Amino acid sequence: MSRIVNLMVSAAVAATLTAAPALAETTQEVVNKAPNGLALTPPMGWNSWNKFACDVNEQTVRDTADAMVSSGMRDAGYQYVVIDDCWHGPRDANGFITADAKKFPSGIKVLADYVHSRGLKFGIYSDAGRLTCGGRPGSQGHEYQDALTYARWGVDYLKYDWCSTGDRNAQEAYALMADALRQSGREIVFSMCEWGTARPWLWAQNVGNLWRTTGDIFDSFSAKDPKRDWAHPMTAIVDMNEPLWPYAGPGHWNDADMLEVGNGGMSPAEYRAHFSLWAMMASPLMAGNDIAHMDESTRSILLNKDVIAIDQDKLGVQGRRVWKDGDREVWVKPLSGGGRAVLLFNRGDASASIRASADELGWPASVRANVRDLWAHRDVGRWTGSIEATIEPHGVAMFRIAS
Ligand code: GLA
Repeated sequence: MSRIVNLMVSAAVAATLTAAPALAETTQEVVNKAPNGLALTPPMGWNSWNKFACDVNEQTVRDTADAMVSSGMRDAGYQYVVIDDCWHGPRDANGFITADAKKFPSGIKVLADYVHSRGLKFGIYSDAGRLTCGGRPGSQGHEYQDALTYARWGVDYLKYDWCSTGDRNAQEAYALMADALRQSGREIVFSMCEWGTARPWLWAQNVGNLWRTTGDIFDSFSAKDPKRDWAHPMTAIVDMNEPLWPYAGPGHWNDADMLEVGNGGMSPAEYRAHFSLWAMMASPLMAGNDIAHMDESTRSILLNKDVIAIDQDKLGVQGRRVWKDGDREVWVKPLSGGGRAVLLFNRGDASASIRASADELGWPASVRANVRDLWAHRDVGRWTGSIEATIEPHGVAMFRIAS
């Protein structure tokens, strides 16, 4: 008898095991898949590189942290203050990395403590090769030692670059540092900066929380950087990052690079497009400007809470382009609760009328929903089956449609 029961139980277990998996993953399953349970929405913060490059020092970082609080950015969700390249001094006699004593005379631990005291988190930069892109010591051969040092300093976020790596295998190099960070005893977001060369979206889901998908951003709407052939204007990055939408999700994001909003190379309309597109693509929102000295136009873009909410939507699905006709595009991003964000984008040099229809949005005209204009910050009425607007050159209109 008991043998029969056992057989029946085994059969039931086997049936359960072979049954089709549930369609929707539970949050816990998503967390288990992520490299460390962090960054369940795209990371937000500031990174020193786009504005300060190698001229970063401890005063700049303190001023930025202060300004992130006083400008309202911290309270809008910008969390990580990340020092990019060129903070490093030499390794000491035991191989431990030190800070550049001229630029960071108080040391990194004191600076991290200061950033934490402002209610923010602290990030730093290294490289999988012998040298960083700026020629400072990289982490190759020192991975566990560096991760331990970062943990001792109170680092919450590591950006890990790919210069001077020779014939290193990217998958192996990033997995090694991911392991070192996990073993460091501190929760550290892992930002992979491998420029998409080894297609990390195919293998890094359990390795990094975000991975760059392209070369560096150039502060321009569509012009190539005359000096750096590995850099791309904003719209070129969009075109490379957009097709990768299936690979993004909670804990592991396609990183379209740090923002250029406020750095002077684009018009206010173009910066609104840049910010909106990054939010539609669920890209990390890392401001890259001089926060302590930004003008009102820059502030109003970076602090558009309606657009930030689209980027940070907890469903974590990257939006994509659903319609294109020449310079006119319609983008859609599904939201938690069943709503949609919709972007009308005009790449052209003249104003253009763009219409998003029920078919493109996957919303029948009969669905009862409200429409909010996310740049005018106004509710504009009920959903009637389409949205149409005249869009300025290089501009966008962005809406949230939800019941
Ligand atoms: C590379 C990265 C940039 C920046 C610089 C620093 O170019 O892609 O984002 O970190 O290195 O040297």
